Amino acid sequence: CGIVGYIGSRDAWPIVLKGLKRLEYRGYDSAGIAVMDSFSQKIYKKAGKVNVLEDFAKELDCSGNVGMGHTRWATHGHPSDRNSHPHTSNSGNLSIIHNGIIENYATLKEELLNRGHQFASETDTEVLIHLIEEIQSIEGTDLLESIRLALNEVVGAYAIVVMDKNQPDRLYVARKGSPLVIGVGNGEHFVASDATPIIEYTKNVIYLNDNEIAVINKDELLIKRLDNVIQTPTIQELNMKLEMLEKGGYEHFMLKEIFEQPRSIRDCMRGRMYPELGKVQLGGIKEFANKLKNIDRIIIVACGTSWHAGLVGEYLIEDYARIPVEVEYASEFRYRNPIITEKDVVIAISQSGETADTMAAIEMAKDKGATIFGICNVAGASIPRISDAGVYTHAGPEIGVASTKAFTAQVTVLTLIAFYMAQQRGTLGTAELTELLTALDEIPDKVSLALESNELIKYIATEIKDATNCLFLGRGCGFPVALEGALKLKEISYIHAEGYPAAEMKHGPIALIDEQMPVIFIATKNSSYEKVISNIQEVKARKGIVIAIVTKGDRKVKDMVDYVIEIPDANETFLPLLATIPLQLLSYHIAVMRGCNVDQPRNLAKSVTVE
Ligand code: G6P
Repeated sequence: CGIVGYIGSRDAWPIVLKGLKRLEYRGYDSAGIAVMDSFSQKIYKKAGKVNVLEDFAKELDCSGNVGMGHTRWATHGHPSDRNSHPHTSNSGNLSIIHNGIIENYATLKEELLNRGHQFASETDTEVLIHLIEEIQSIEGTDLLESIRLALNEVVGAYAIVVMDKNQPDRLYVARKGSPLVIGVGNGEHFVASDATPIIEYTKNVIYLNDNEIAVINKDELLIKRLDNVIQTPTIQELNMKLEMLEKGGYEHFMLKEIFEQPRSIRDCMRGRMYPELGKVQLGGIKEFANKLKNIDRIIIVACGTSWHAGLVGEYLIEDYARIPVEVEYASEFRYRNPIITEKDVVIAISQSGETADTMAAIEMAKDKGATIFGICNVAGASIPRISDAGVYTHAGPEIGVASTKAFTAQVTVLTLIAFYMAQQRGTLGTAELTELLTALDEIPDKVSLALESNELIKYIATEIKDATNCLFLGRGCGFPVALEGALKLKEISYIHAEGYPAAEMKHGPIALIDEQMPVIFIATKNSSYEKVISNIQEVKARKGIVIAIVTKGDRKVKDMVDYVIEIPDANETFLPLLATIPLQLLSYHIAVMRGCNVDQPRNLAKSVTVE
């Protein structure tokens, strides 16, 4: 979910509304805004996207210099006007917006019901604001203290903003496990769940830490910890440009982000590799350089697309650095009782740096003594903050919910990490590294060449857009690429798709193949080329429609399949960076042709801060 708040001298409504639009990628099944001034408080909320709320409030009174808004990704209670935030207390004086989950809400609700509270929604959030008010009335404490006491009773994760009708000059905020940033302006303050709504007003921000509460008025703020200790805020400067948050002439963010990849991959490599010296330098993990010589094992934890990047990482780290690697879904790993020791390094990969399951997996591994490296795209996000060391992907803000440039940046970082570890452990010599890094240096230009197939891919999309199922097959590093290709297609076009190791097809998926079934092969010229060709023949023998991603100039595959998409020749190690590009474009065009909302696919959220 997304949170935004404003307090200052300007009209809050347009600022909060615009902020919600910037945050809509975090969830978009309902939205609501509260604004207030000394005379009144207004709360408007609607199921649906932020523009539904905008239209609804067009003719209504939206005045006030203080405001807060929320865009929701439903957890408790289906998306409806009633379940949208803000929620209000029993008296109606207090209102709240909330990201996260209050795990013990049912017990708290029960107690509050017994005390005569009436609830208007099915949400856990409403319970929290009622609890705050209840404590205020029983204890006679001021609102800051009542919030503090209430939060001490809460189990779960939250970022909240609270408004009090009777105190129209302040906002209360708090966080635990769900991010919250405060923007410090001139006589005004902004609050948001990430910096994107703030950047156009100020570059000075304070990242609230877990277990901190702040009371904010237009030119002052006070931060306290939940244990009542006052904190001194640290102001940091944002390194983000407004253009990064705009579509820049493209029809969708996703398309813009796909086309940004030559640049984002380049940015990710910058200052980290020296082909002529045969050297990789990763400042973020260098204090662990020696440790890397003696580690037993690496465990990669991640979710979704980041997990696919992790699989590529496994192949490369094992191949080059000769360290055993396990790749785990964070959500599974954390609920098992995995064997972790001090000699393990856990690499957590996350675009947003906020994924709840990945965070929990890190905390668990940390408790067991492992060293944590974070690979993250969002500077200052929670995962880099709780990791021991890490490498940023520097892809720039990714707004499209389906991850594209963040994936290729993660793969780039993992490639560099594999080389770095190999360098530390002596499994790669300078000459070999020079050769590999020289080849890696050419990848951004090769990605540009791969993007030139856009029109051809659009044509192929018209041919298969009505499919109901699709299979993606690859071997070696082509396998995670196949998984990622399938995920992209199902996420944004709602076509059922599966990624499989090409050789596994004969153990099940082959039963699905008929003349209606598009099968996309990663069939580039690499060590498994001939094997993949056999798999292609197995599909053709069963009349499947075959689309093959091939190395430029390949004739053999072209002669046996329905469509080929060429990518430039490159060392097999870098195959995922190139072969992913046409798959992203294919999903994009199919989704557009099917009339889907490419940037905000149904039911998904970019940043999943719930477990
Ligand atoms: C969500 C997003 C995916 C993403 C996954 C992990 O499901 O829709 O695109 O891959 O979360 O997110 P993270 O930010 O941890 O990479």
